Amino acid sequence: MQLTSDGRLRHLITLDGLSKSLLCDIFSDADIWARGNSSRPLAEKLFINIFFETSTRTRTAFEAAAKQLGADVVNLNQATMAGDIKQESLEDTVRTVAAMGAVGIALRHPDAGAPQAAVAAAAPGIAVINGGNNCESHPTQGLTDAYTIRERVGDDFSGLSVAIVGDVLHSRVARSNLHMLRIMGATDIRLVGPPELCPQILQNDLGASVFSDLEEAINSVDIVILLRVQRERLRAMPQESDYFRNYGLTAARLAMLKKDVMILHPGPINRGVEISDSVADGPQSMILRQVTNGMAIRKAVLSRLCST
Ligand code: CP
Repeated sequence: MQLTSDGRLRHLITLDGLSKSLLCDIFSDADIWARGNSSRPLAEKLFINIFFETSTRTRTAFEAAAKQLGADVVNLNQATMAGDIKQESLEDTVRTVAAMGAVGIALRHPDAGAPQAAVAAAAPGIAVINGGNNCESHPTQGLTDAYTIRERVGDDFSGLSVAIVGDVLHSRVARSNLHMLRIMGATDIRLVGPPELCPQILQNDLGASVFSDLEEAINSVDIVILLRVQRERLRAMPQESDYFRNYGLTAARLAMLKKDVMILHPGPINRGVEISDSVADGPQSMILRQVTNGMAIRKAVLSRLCST
């Protein structure tokens, strides 16, 4: 659905099934944008953000990246769209912006099938980019995290040991990161969290080792990817103090890890829940580097999908 018959990316819905060579091509393009390329391949084109859930990083990065590539950008959100009150469907919203001449949309939506529905409704000239849907997929976050790791280790992730810590059950970032880590060659991937947020069944569902003891899981890893505890998706929120005591990444725990361990978190971060201030703001933290890299990745994706 997202690839053309000759293997080019037409939409970006999931990283699942994409090739390593395609990801590396996107990273090479991102390198060019990160170096300050000022060309404007989206000049006089219209790009639309359609966000049915809140976002700071993803929506802003798509808007800023598209504008820096020369596009006009319009932001639709749930509070101002006709959808909710006037009952317009997602498909009709996509048809409407396609009729205005948009060349691409970034869509964030709570439903599992929403990106596929948007692709089915999209006109031939419009690319759909999944800005995060349900607990399924957040492909540009996965690419951003891969690009951040690649800055340190290059294109071969095969020797890396990676822990994904926290609310794996509800995390689209965890799923996109699992896809990207496997595509890039990582095999030692550990999912870590309390059983209610990281149940043993994920070992079968996601094909990675599941741990409930944080210190056992992370003591020898190269990368720790922390996940936000998603209060809005939890029926019963764990006590934050209990969560921090058992799963929070503190300076004391960081001191037990490899000296050059990379700490990633997609944001927004819950300080004092998943991570202490000193670790979030310390030298191992890649959190703001991920945000910076997210701009180059969005430019690479937008220029690839929306410039022709
Ligand atoms: N990482 C991420 O998706 O953040 P936002 O919700 O702010 O877009």
